[in-house]
Amino acid sequence: MTDPLTPLAGKQILLGVTGGIAVYKSVELLRLLKKAGAGVDVVMTEAARQFVGKTTFEVLSENPVITDLWADSHASVAHIDVASRCDAAVIAPATANCIAKMAHGIADDALTTTFLAVTSPVMLCPSMNTDMYQNIRVQRNLDILEKDGVYILDPDDGVLACKTVGAGRLPEPWFIFDRICRMLSSKDFTGKSVLVSAGPTLEPIDPVRYVSNHSSGKMGYAIARAAEMRGAAVTLVTGPVSLDPPAGVETVHVQTCQDMADAMLSKMDGADIIIKVAAVADFRPKKQESVKIKKTSGQDEMILTLVQNPDILQRMGQLKRPDQFLVGFAAETNDLAANARKKIQKKNLDMIAANLVGAADSGFKADTNKVTLFFKDGSQKEIGLMDKQAVAHILLDAILVQVS
Ligand code: PMT
Repeated sequence: MTDPLTPLAGKQILLGVTGGIAVYKSVELLRLLKKAGAGVDVVMTEAARQFVGKTTFEVLSENPVITDLWADSHASVAHIDVASRCDAAVIAPATANCIAKMAHGIADDALTTTFLAVTSPVMLCPSMNTDMYQNIRVQRNLDILEKDGVYILDPDDGVLACKTVGAGRLPEPWFIFDRICRMLSSKDFTGKSVLVSAGPTLEPIDPVRYVSNHSSGKMGYAIARAAEMRGAAVTLVTGPVSLDPPAGVETVHVQTCQDMADAMLSKMDGADIIIKVAAVADFRPKKQESVKIKKTSGQDEMILTLVQNPDILQRMGQLKRPDQFLVGFAAETNDLAANARKKIQKKNLDMIAANLVGAADSGFKADTNKVTLFFKDGSQKEIGLMDKQAVAHILLDAILVQVS
């Protein structure tokens, strides 16, 4: 059973490297895989070695690099050994030539021969000039591979080494790494649709000032990422934060409570599980000035009138169907259990995750959180202080028990 937090620990990855300028990114990918506890076997084409020598891969992988079917001792068949022992295989970068050979089962070098013997999940990361990538023959070969069950990671858009601007860049190593983790994660949320809200809302006073709070989005983004890794179709509605949207997640950016209410309510119908992590501003300025409010001389104070925002979670609790599972978060500075239980009742929730805010290692902004889960049947489960990604997985485990 794969640990959702460390899906690569103890796994064996086969890394194929073909000849493109992006080979330098494969070196970093190899480093990330090793750091995550995976064993890595590398197989390189001759063209790949024109860009980076095999010694770099050998030193970092701590394994011999396969480059030639005839170079090894014939007492064992190295390329078959590495193909059969891998838990997942990835080719990064994958050239048009390699893609064409893979699509048609051609095995005329060490890399294509090795990959033909792989029975575990395979990911290809195409990387080439935009015109080559968009060529109908390359696209046709990618379609064939995709239909065969190979996972194709789309290249990024950007300025390429040949100065072309367009699709063809190898995605960043951390992103390829993230997708490999997903390949190896157990998919216990397959078929489930999860709607998550995250971050603060921002309520304008005038064009340059606003009312908001300290939410960084880390807790909500961790839940969205964990659910996507576990196979859910995830939509994330997020207030303004400085985090990258999680891969594979439909992300909707909003600003105010009203924007968030509109987005959440419009997505609610299609969701099986709704997790409302966002720190919504309870109040907004009664009047939003269209020009910057000026300070007048002799003015010692300014009175800002606030009016109540709609309570999105409460509204969702009223609208919720019996087959939907609704989770709230409670940010409390005191009386955690009593306040959390009140919110379960008042907002018609199935579960609430209560965290103490105000401590440096829990709640807003921190990388860790200390959460207690309260269920509508009166039971509760304490989660010790841990990384927000770990909290996310435990919370999802608890939801799965309730919805299965
Ligand atoms: O983003 P981070 O920096 O990682 O911090 C995480 C967090 C502390 C923001 C998160 O763990 C958390 O506690 N989120 C809920 C914050 C909050 O608004 O709590 P509350 O007790 O005020 O609200 C209870 C619930 O009602 C929440 O699910 C909230 O989303 C919802 N609500 C509140 C007000 C409102 N107008 N509409 C709502 O939907």
